[in-house]
Amino acid sequence: MGGLGKVAVLGAGNIGGSLAQRLAEMDLAREVTLIDIVDGLPQGKALDIQESAPILGFSTRVTGSTSLDALDGADVVVETAGLARKPGMSRSDLLSKNAAIVKGHAEAVRDHAPHATVLVVTNPVDVMTYWFRQVCGFPAPRVFGESGTLDTARFRWFVADALKVAPRDVVGFVLGSHGDTMVPVLSLTSVAGVPLTKLLPADTLAAIVQRSKQGGGEIVNLLKTGSAFYAPTASQAELVRALAHDEHRLLSASAHLSGEFGEKNVYIGVPAVIGRSGVERIVEVSLSAEEKTAFAASVKAVRDDLDLLAQLPG
Ligand code: LAC
Repeated sequence: MGGLGKVAVLGAGNIGGSLAQRLAEMDLAREVTLIDIVDGLPQGKALDIQESAPILGFSTRVTGSTSLDALDGADVVVETAGLARKPGMSRSDLLSKNAAIVKGHAEAVRDHAPHATVLVVTNPVDVMTYWFRQVCGFPAPRVFGESGTLDTARFRWFVADALKVAPRDVVGFVLGSHGDTMVPVLSLTSVAGVPLTKLLPADTLAAIVQRSKQGGGEIVNLLKTGSAFYAPTASQAELVRALAHDEHRLLSASAHLSGEFGEKNVYIGVPAVIGRSGVERIVEVSLSAEEKTAFAASVKAVRDDLDLLAQLPG
């Protein structure tokens, strides 16, 4: 049993259900509660996960509810609710519908779980994380977004597959927005310390960068009815474990910038130290001139979406 009392997962779709399963099996918390407006869905998935406990051996209590009152006393909240992409849609296409859902949830978290640390997953995630934090009014470090952890996992896998090395030995960062402008940072990627640029030719690296940037879309096009959830929830669970065990992990997460990387008042993927109360600090790594330009373009793309958000009614 780990260090958390209650983790609330908002949204019991593919992401919420898979995340609740991972969190229960990791035994990180006394209770994992799934919350969704569709009656039966959170209760059914929760009970199904719970009934695996005798076989898998976890002690976490898994509950489901259609009421936001179930947020009461949550130490950690993961916002997964919202529409997912269909083929041909960008994450930004989801903006207005998901902003309305996130608003109601952020108000409920503010009222029911005022001390919670919040991980936002809903797309477009850098914008929805900004919005969640603006609505709930929590200190910025207590609200952060999952983005780079997932994009980095995809990038690491493609590198591992090309080199035929253990995936966990590939370390690196994908920074910037969780969108078409994300920045896989070759200068910060290594295989157990050996620089990637010494291991693969430039054209192979360019192909891996391109595939990583379209990694989410590749899955959407294959599934046709929704977006990825296995790798996303593995990334989210890694972040929740960093909170639960106060691990001080250095991971790529969507964090609030107040001057770091020369940017202010924006959430975007950066290297961040994640501990019990969220983002402990941002590590301002040095980027090559080309990477800096790509990062600036990614910030601009998020700011364009923030402008759209500001124009939404209500
Ligand atoms: C993805 C979606 C979840 O990247 O944003 O798969």
